[in-house]
Amino acid sequence: MYTSQILGTGHFVPDQIYTNQYMTTLFDTSDEWITERTGIKERRIANPKENEFPSTMALQAAKMAIKNAKIDKEEIEIILLSSTMSDYHFPNTATLLQDLLGMKNKCACIDLNAACTGWLYSLVMANSLIANGVYKNILVVGSETTSSYNNWMDRSKSVLFGDGCGAIVLSKSNNENSKIHKSILSSDSSKKDDLIMRTGMARSPFFVDSKSMDIVEMNGQVVFKSAVKTMASQCASILEQTNTTKEDVDLFIPHQANMRIIEAVARRFEFPKEKVFINVQKYANTSSASIPLALSEAVEAGRLKRGDKLLLTAFGSGLTSGTVLLTY
Ligand code: ACO
Repeated sequence: MYTSQILGTGHFVPDQIYTNQYMTTLFDTSDEWITERTGIKERRIANPKENEFPSTMALQAAKMAIKNAKIDKEEIEIILLSSTMSDYHFPNTATLLQDLLGMKNKCACIDLNAACTGWLYSLVMANSLIANGVYKNILVVGSETTSSYNNWMDRSKSVLFGDGCGAIVLSKSNNENSKIHKSILSSDSSKKDDLIMRTGMARSPFFVDSKSMDIVEMNGQVVFKSAVKTMASQCASILEQTNTTKEDVDLFIPHQANMRIIEAVARRFEFPKEKVFINVQKYANTSSASIPLALSEAVEAGRLKRGDKLLLTAFGSGLTSGTVLLTY
């Protein structure tokens, strides 16, 4: 069995910013309400006129990750791309990314949707492909335009989400200290109706009146409580299973859904806030892009160094969840 390491990280966010102040021009809300309930101050919104889509945002993040990994793009042997809304129904966005990158090696391209946990699911799949010797270099991307399914007349959900992308090159480790120690993945289908988008797929193929309909249905309080409980218990469990103490963990990157969720997870799991990476105030919830985007920013800011222990945890529609402990 081989081990894998994160060789390079990259990210991209659109230039267009919707501040809380701007949201007050769309519906009856206030900066105070949004800040107090979510900690979010602004979000980035993709501009289709500027050709900003999951694939094109992924191009920018992937180029940065490949450059930082110091490998040639043709050395990428498979692309795993997580997204809750692809550019098209088909072909998948990973294939579009291969084309945009100008890759000639015809590597396999797979899209994966596990909602906000999708990128962590992809990371675990990529790790096992490397562990089993199938591939040596894998591009693992989370790219999201939540704005493409946001109802801008719905104040209860549209304030929560934003667009962005994060990418890594996961490679066969040449250093025995850099590896993924353990992962936990889960889905609680009994709560599948508490966060669901029914439209646009086989059961409901056409948008009837996308302006007025409740595109995303969410039971906010159920999601909130489940998110806190599940992420905190998975974090405690993964540390126990690996004989790791909280002091051993150098950085904790939870899914950036909402400041209150992040704070409640850290409180329940009794983890020091100064070791928690937070950027939700700038980007809101970018779904499965949130962890790789935060990871890339953490590396760029010098918050994560080689040899550091990193704890990642995510939660999303499904209700999916996942937690990974690794040495960077
Ligand atoms: N501005 C002003 N008022 C608002 C807004 C808004 N943007 N949105 C809702 N309200 C109002 C409601 O209409 C309601 O008014 P009422 O009491 O007169 O009926 C009031 O505020 C309270 O609404 P609640 O839904 O009870 O507020 P709550 O305290 O539960 O906070 C929130 C809502 C922020 C959505 C919270 O439940 C939450 O964070 N849930 C988690 C959801 C989440 O993060 N989902 C993301 C996807 S899953 C994931 O990534 C983890």
